[in-house]
Amino acid sequence: MTTTARVPILAGSDAETVAAQAIAERWGLPSETTDNDVFQLWLTNGVLALHWLQSPQKMSPLVVDFHQGKAAYRAQNTQLKNEAIAKAVGVTGQFKPSVVDGTAGLGRDAFVLAGLGCNVQLIERHPVVAALLDNGLHRARQEGDFIGDTCQRMQLIGTDNLFTGSGYTQEPDVVYLDPMYPKTGKQKAQVKKDMQMFQQLVGSDEDADTLLEPALALAKYRVVVKRPNSAPFLAGREPNSQIKSKKHRFDVYIKRGFHESAN
Ligand SMILES: C[S@@+](CC[C@H](N)C(=O)[O-])C[C@H]1O[C@@H](n2cnc3c(N)ncnc32)[C@H](O)[C@@H]1O
Repeated sequence: MTTTARVPILAGSDAETVAAQAIAERWGLPSETTDNDVFQLWLTNGVLALHWLQSPQKMSPLVVDFHQGKAAYRAQNTQLKNEAIAKAVGVTGQFKPSVVDGTAGLGRDAFVLAGLGCNVQLIERHPVVAALLDNGLHRARQEGDFIGDTCQRMQLIGTDNLFTGSGYTQEPDVVYLDPMYPKTGKQKAQVKKDMQMFQQLVGSDEDADTLLEPALALAKYRVVVKRPNSAPFLAGREPNSQIKSKKHRFDVYIKRGFHESAN
């Protein structure tokens, strides 16, 4: 189940109290701690970090940092022909579809698409995840490098736009969905530490099936759904095609070809 655990945000120093308060107000987060807090967000030197106070093992705080680790490596080494996500979304050397990522999470997939030249509007309903993502995008954009430029093509537009149908700055060619799917057995054991924290916070998106209809209504050309290889189709609906990678598959629902007009 998606959890809406109470997660307070705290400032690492007096100088950041106002900035922390602004984040609390923007995402509807509390500023007071309690003895029962499972998670806390800390804003320190401009970096927002999620701490899991009751984690079963020692864990580093969760931070969205597009300049670090796998994300940075991937951004600089992504090759169009090797990315299953690019094939599924329909990115080519000449055509960079505009994308709405309806389940943005920590923005990793959106970052790959933006790195390939797509403009991506991001929607994330979990306020803590949205706050972390917003902070990561803000910090990355300060750098005038490839990664900063990539993050300029990513706009976090809100939390429930798929259902309200409003807030978009551009009609999307493609809607991309990657809802949480309950992990089982072997899959669970393989989940990396930062993802364990993310899963503990967000839970599984048990209402994920409701995303497909509004996504199909919004997309001009296609909807792409990322699923674990063993998962059933979203909303039980068979896609028009599938692109498979090692751990996942991308189910592609085609409304019309990229070269067909709307009428
Ligand atoms: C598996 S994660 C997405 C990971 C993301 N693709 C990435 O690369 O970082 C799924 C996310 O979708 C969000 N989500 C689920 N249903 C949503 C909805 N109806 N609207 C917006 N976000 C939603 C969850 O809160 C969660 O953060």
